[in-house]
Order: sequence, then structure tokens, then C-alpha cells
Amino acid sequence: MITIDRKSASGFLTDDEFSEALNKAEDAFEQVVKGTGKGNEWLGWRRILASPNDAELDEIGNYAARIRSEADIFIVCGIGGSYTGAMAIIKALNPVFKPNGPEIIYAGHHMSGKYLQELIDYLNEPKADGTQKSVYLNVISKSGTTLETALAFRTLRNWMHRFYDDAKLRISATTGQQGGVLNKIIDAEGYKKYVIPDDVGGRFSVLTPVGLLPIAVAGIDIQTLFYGAVAEFNRSEKERDDILKYAATRYALLEKGFAVDVIGSFEPELLGFIAWIQQLIGESEGKEGKGLYPAMAGYSTDLHSVGQLIQEGQRNVIETLIVVEEPFSDAMVAGGDKSDTDQLNYLAGKLFHEINRSALNGTVEAHTDGGVPVIKINIQKLNTQQLGRLIYFFEMFTAVYVYILGVNPFNQPGVEDYKKAMYRLLGKN
Ligand code: PA5
Repeated sequence: MITIDRKSASGFLTDDEFSEALNKAEDAFEQVVKGTGKGNEWLGWRRILASPNDAELDEIGNYAARIRSEADIFIVCGIGGSYTGAMAIIKALNPVFKPNGPEIIYAGHHMSGKYLQELIDYLNEPKADGTQKSVYLNVISKSGTTLETALAFRTLRNWMHRFYDDAKLRISATTGQQGGVLNKIIDAEGYKKYVIPDDVGGRFSVLTPVGLLPIAVAGIDIQTLFYGAVAEFNRSEKERDDILKYAATRYALLEKGFAVDVIGSFEPELLGFIAWIQQLIGESEGKEGKGLYPAMAGYSTDLHSVGQLIQEGQRNVIETLIVVEEPFSDAMVAGGDKSDTDQLNYLAGKLFHEINRSALNGTVEAHTDGGVPVIKINIQKLNTQQLGRLIYFFEMFTAVYVYILGVNPFNQPGVEDYKKAMYRLLGKN
């Protein structure tokens, strides 16, 4: 269950400002549900939850199980919405130090030659027992033309074809039904193909094969994740309050001149998820001179860096904090040090979760007093089901909130500008 706590933020808005924004949020919600808003041909992220494709979930699960049993390394090659969703879930749920199954490596999300070269060197290196590594690769690009991904794919594909006789069986591609250079390569080489539905945009595609295959390869139960999202979809069609309140508060604060939303959490496991939210909101709302800049913060680490600016810098910052209610580790502070030289005995026997919670509560208090409205988004537990819920919550929130701004949440026309300039400089015809 996801709940919103806007107590801190409510002190920054009058009742009239909030209720006017709430009315707008209600209209915007209706536009999403009825499919009458801008970009309504891209509402497939709702359609897939309204009628789940269990056969596809099973098929992805089976292919992922094969990769898990055969691969030492699984490369996810994609950028933007083609990889942030998978990374979000894998980072949140997989053990930090001991990967569960194949090592997952991301590529195609920038153009660093150093990174690619070092990656190839690493792939070439034999394992500790002297045998070669077994590498599988999934390239993900809806358009099939994105340069960062295409360049990495060319490099890695060439390496795989030189290295393995069965390279064709080790490479899979996730792309649009038709068109794009990637589809031509798939046809020519016979790689296994997954389809990104036409009506689902990149940053809304984590619950399609785009995110589901890498997530399943990481050993995470995609049925539970997907049906978590289905549960939130069904709930929020009836109980809209939390999405409406969050959208209305954020919009009313934007209208009051706030310019930056620091999206953070006291759980470092959620940093990847916050990167996914940053992309989802930022690429959706930042158009026509509108939008709050979604910055990222990992607490309490960043309280010792940008925390200073949040507390006392320019007063144009709001904060969204993702809060996990229940402890997911029973680690506690050791007792038994009679000398108490480090003066920490007052914390002996306390769960780290409780201490972290005090840091959270203290931060909300200090930031609110310092002029930063804080909105808390609470989930009960950090598990697969709750993260499925949170995915849908943020997708729906984004659509509703961006509709209040009066822009199309589902396109990204501004991204083309750097591409045009880059291609001109590279001499592309
Ligand atoms: O949300 C989006 O549509 C973008 O972030 C895309 O996912 C990103 O640009 C990658 O595009 P593609 O999958 O076509 O390579």
C-alpha cells in the first residue's frame, strides 16, 4: 500500500491554492482514464496492466532461466527508458556485494570508448578456473536507431561473433514491431526478438520485455513485480486520493515559483529507482518552458554535500522522499563496550533502521523549517510486489501531473535537438 504524507508541504500552500490544484488533478486523472489527453496513443502502459499477457511473462521467465543457467555475464545494452527501469529494480532487490546469478553489466548508455574497451578486455579475460566467460547480450532500443546503443551493440556484437560459434543464440533484441536499423539486423542474423508495443513509450516500458527480461535474468520474480503493478492499477482506479494529492501539491508548489524537486530516499537501495523516477518525470514534464527540475539525492550521504544547499541555498527547492516503513534488515548497533570510548552506547541495541528513521524525521523537520516543502511517499516494505506498485504509482502520477501542466507527457521533442547538432558535426547525411 502506498500513501502520501504532505503535512510538511501543506504549510506552504493556502487551502484555496491546494483545492484549486486538486480540481485540476481530478480533471487530468479523467483525461488519462478516458484517453482524451495529449499523446493518448501512448497509454499502452495502462493497457498492459488491464489485460496482462501471462503467456509473455512465462516465456520471458523461461528464456531468462536459460540465460541464468548458462551465463556468467549478461549485458543490457540500452539508454534512457530502455535501461533505467531494469536497473532500478535490479539495484533495489539484488544483493549489493554478491550478484544473484549472472553479473549484469550495462552498456550503450553513453559513448565512452574507455568504458567499452575496458568492458571488452574484461570479457576476454578468462575466469579464475582458466575457462572462458559465458556472455549473453540483450540490446534494447525501441527506435532501433539510437547512436549510443547502436555503437555499443556494433562493438559487442562483433566481439561476440568472433568469440562464440553460437553467438546468434546468445544475443537477443528488444525493439519496435517494425522499422529501424535494429529490425534489419535481427532479420539478417536471426536473433531472438522481443517487441516493445507501439503504444508504450521508452520511459513507461519497464513492465514490457524492455525491463522484464533483464529483471528476470537477475533472478527477480517478474510475475510478482507485474502483478504488484496490476494491484496498484486496480486500486488507484477507485482510490485516487494519493495520486491526486501528490500531483496537486507538486503542481501548486511549481505555480508558487519552486523550481527544483529533490527526489531522495534514506535507503541507498532505492537510488536506481530514483534515477528511473528522475527520467520518467523530467523527460515527461520538461517542455514548453515548464517543469520542476527533478534532482536526485541519496541520504544520509548527500546531507553531507548538497544537504547544505537544500537547507540554506536559494529557496526554490521542494523535496520528494521515498520512505520504506518496515525494516528490511535486523542489523543493530553492538553493545558491550563498557569504556564507551566512541560514546555510542546510547545507541546500543538499536536497529540501524530506527537510527536511519530518526535521521529522516530530523531532516524533514529541519528542511521544512528551512523553507523546503517535503512530500513523503511511503511504501510498507522494500520487496518485489511493493516496487511493482510503486512503478505504476509513479507512471500514473506522471501522466496526471503533466496533464495539469497542459503538455504531452509521452513525447520528448527536445531530445532531438542535441541529436541533430551531433549528427551535423559528425557529418551524417
Ligand atoms: O523515454 C524515452 O522514450 C527515451 O528515454 C528512450 O527510452 C531513449 O531515448 C532510448 O530510445 P530507444 O529505445 O529508441 O533507443
